[in-house]
Amino acid sequence: MAARTIRTQVGIVGAGPAGLLLSHLLHLEGIESVVIESQSRAHIEERVRAGVLEQGTVDLLNAAGVGERMRREGLVHHGIELRFQHRGHRIDFQELTPGRAITVYAQHEVVKDLVQARLAAGGQVLFQVQDVAIGALEDDSAQIRFRHNDEDCRIACDYIAGCDGFHGICRSSVPQGVFRFYEKTYPFGWLGILAEAKPASGELIYANHERGFALLSMRTPKISRLYLQCRPDEDLSQWPDERIWEELQRRVESVDGFRVNEGPILQRGVTAMRSFVAEPMQYGRLFLAGDAAHIVPATGAKGLNLAAADVRVLAHALACRFRTGSGERLQGYSEICLRRVWRAQHFSWWMTSMMHRFEGSDGFDHRRQLAELDQVISSRSAAATLAENYTGLPFQLPGEEL
Ligand code: PHB
Repeated sequence: MAARTIRTQVGIVGAGPAGLLLSHLLHLEGIESVVIESQSRAHIEERVRAGVLEQGTVDLLNAAGVGERMRREGLVHHGIELRFQHRGHRIDFQELTPGRAITVYAQHEVVKDLVQARLAAGGQVLFQVQDVAIGALEDDSAQIRFRHNDEDCRIACDYIAGCDGFHGICRSSVPQGVFRFYEKTYPFGWLGILAEAKPASGELIYANHERGFALLSMRTPKISRLYLQCRPDEDLSQWPDERIWEELQRRVESVDGFRVNEGPILQRGVTAMRSFVAEPMQYGRLFLAGDAAHIVPATGAKGLNLAAADVRVLAHALACRFRTGSGERLQGYSEICLRRVWRAQHFSWWMTSMMHRFEGSDGFDHRRQLAELDQVISSRSAAATLAENYTGLPFQLPGEEL
């Protein structure tokens, strides 16, 4: 039987923040899109992921009219703490990067807001699709084939946005040799928990400790999000609750008797730490955005923010293409995005290498880290570099200088 054909301007694979935000931004430009997603709506709306939004991401969500709940429920932070040698040192964003802050608001809350906005505007988001394949990328139009509700379907579109994450099919559907991949794998991961416990500090604490890195973050005034450096293949069964709490307490202990608040652990998982970039981020009618094109280690809190920056550039370039017929902006998509991506790669690598314990060193790395941290807390320009990168570089569109 012939496949059911859906015609649209942009076919979007993946209903994460990148795909949904792109679809919404395109809608605001009067461009039609259809989003397909292999998971269920409940799954993407509950999946615990990142939680730190840069100022530019907050501004973008507000400008796009999807920031109402974020403004109400998001926690605005004007600094972070770096903790080492049992002492805390605050990096004051307010003072170092006037007007810029970060907002703690979970990625799945952003996803919920975007799904709701798309559906309210009559947008098509198809969940639980299977057997997705993309094709005809070099032709006059592109297509996405998939199964949905036991029916063979096909999206015929002008362009495809591959927003399907690191393990998605879009990047791997491109012929070999088109992309160059850059990759770095770190010899550790993060064991992350979500706990029903009041955050012990009003701001995030990044701790460098002889036993390994720890991070205290949060989701709400009653829910903590906490991380411990662990082995990349850490076996969670070796980590009963008591061990997690004990290790967290040790890594963030301070001269003034600081304690992490403990409570029931609601969720736990291990995340590998890696850096990855695919270049260019486009091929024919396919444009990759977010994790499909690049991964950063979580230490810089940049993943979601890079995805938002990508789709802002892509929505703008697609709007130019549909409005004027010129594909020039689209051709420049990778170059604009990759500049920011590599800045974020550098920052994330720097934060990662400054904060984590590296095995096998005779202590040289740890001494080197302490010297680096000492510089960050005692030199205004070093602290400002951290603050500028953490709160986020300005967004750039073609023709604008960063
Ligand atoms: C988080 O809250 O999940 C979080 C915060 C800061 C990071 C990474 C993750 O650098």
